[in-house]
Amino acid sequence: MTKAPRIPASLPVSSPRLIDAIVAPGLESIAKDELARLGARDLEASPGVVRGRADDATLFRCNLGARTITRLLEVVAEGPCRRFDELEKLAARVDWRRFGTRVGPIEVKATASRSRLYHSGAIAERVEGVVKAALGASSTGAPPLRVHVRVDTDVVTLSVDSSGDRLHRRGYRLDGAAAPLRETLAAGILLLLEPGLATSDAPPSVFDPMCGSGTFPIEAAWMAMRRAPGLDVPLLCSTWPGLGDVAKRASSELAGATRTLPMAVTGMDRNPLAVSAARANAERAGVAVDWLEGDADWAHPGDTPPGLVICNPPYGHRIGGADRVLPLLERLAARFDGWRVAALWPGVPRAGWEERARLNNGGIRVSVVEWVRSRR
Ligand SMILES: C[S@@+](CC[C@H](N)C(=O)[O-])C[C@H]1O[C@@H](n2cnc3c(N)ncnc32)[C@H](O)[C@@H]1O
Repeated sequence: MTKAPRIPASLPVSSPRLIDAIVAPGLESIAKDELARLGARDLEASPGVVRGRADDATLFRCNLGARTITRLLEVVAEGPCRRFDELEKLAARVDWRRFGTRVGPIEVKATASRSRLYHSGAIAERVEGVVKAALGASSTGAPPLRVHVRVDTDVVTLSVDSSGDRLHRRGYRLDGAAAPLRETLAAGILLLLEPGLATSDAPPSVFDPMCGSGTFPIEAAWMAMRRAPGLDVPLLCSTWPGLGDVAKRASSELAGATRTLPMAVTGMDRNPLAVSAARANAERAGVAVDWLEGDADWAHPGDTPPGLVICNPPYGHRIGGADRVLPLLERLAARFDGWRVAALWPGVPRAGWEERARLNNGGIRVSVVEWVRSRR
C-alpha cells in the first residue's frame, strides 16, 4: 500500500514566505516563541525545525533577532517524489530567478531518509542541473545560491538558505577556550530558565562560575540589552533582488532597540587564558560584563542582587573532573542565597537536582539541571 503524502502538491511561491527555521533539538518551543515575538505567523514546531510564515521584513527580523535558530530557510517547493523525473519537475516549478539573476556558485545540499530516492549525491546533482538550467552560468563575485533538499518518506522539500553562515556565529567569539558552548544553545538555555532576561525591564543578575570563553555571560548581556544577535552577520537574503531597503530598515529598527545593560553579569574561570579570551570576546560584543579569575569554590555573590547561576562545567570525555562538579555547585548554592543554580549536565544528576530540559551539545546528550534541594 502506498503511503499518503503529507503535502499534496508543490507550494505556490507567494508572500508571506514559507519558512523553516532550523533549531537544535530541544529548543524548538523556545525558538517558536522567539519567532512569534519577531512577527512570524502560523508557527508549528517539529523535531529540529519550526515552520511558519514571514513577510520580507519578518524574514530579516527573524534572521537578525532570533537567538536560538541555526539558519532560516525559505521553502520554495514541497511535494511527493519517488523518481528523479518527479524531483526535476518539482524543482523546475520554482522561480529561481527570485533569488538573483546573477548568482555565484550554486551549492545544493541533500539529505534523504525512508525514501525511494535515497542517494543524496545524485539528488543534489539533479536539482543543481535544474537550477543551473534556469539561471545560466554562475557569475564570478556574485553571492552564492544555497539550496537545501530534504527527502523524507518520499516527500521532497526544496528550500533556499536565507541566512548564509550558521547564525550561532555572531562574530564576537574569535577567542576560544576549551569545549565552548554554541551561542544558540547558550541563549536557548538562558531563555528556558529565565525568559525575563529578554523581556523584563529589570532582569535578574547572571553569574557563570566556569565561563570559559564567556558564552553564557555575553549571551545573557546581549539578551538583557535587547541587542539583536545577528547585526554583524552578513545575510544571504540581503542580496536577493529588491530586498536591500527592507534589510536596511530591519537592521536599523533592531539596532535602535539596544539599551545599556540593566543588571550585573559576571563570568569567572580558574584558567587565566579562558578569562582573557572571554574578556576579548566581550569587548568585541560591546558588553560590560565583570570577569573574575579564580576557583568557583571561592565564588561569593557579595552585594549583587540574586539571580541565576548557570554554567557549562567540565564533563564527559571533553574535560576531566566531572564527579567533583555537582558537589562544588551545591556548596556554591549554599553561599548564593536566593539565587537559582543550574548547569548543563550529561546523564542523570545526583539527588537534589531536577532536570529542566534535554539537549544535545556537540553530539553529547545533556540535560539542563537545577539545584532544588535547598529551596524546598
Ligand atoms: C566546558 S568549559 C566552559 C565553556 C564555556 N561555556 C564556553 O562557551 O566557552 C568549562 C570551564 O570550566 C572551567 N572550570 C573548571 N573547574 C573550575 C573551577 N573549579 N572554578 C572555575 N572554573 C572552572 C574550565 O577552566 C573551563 O574553562
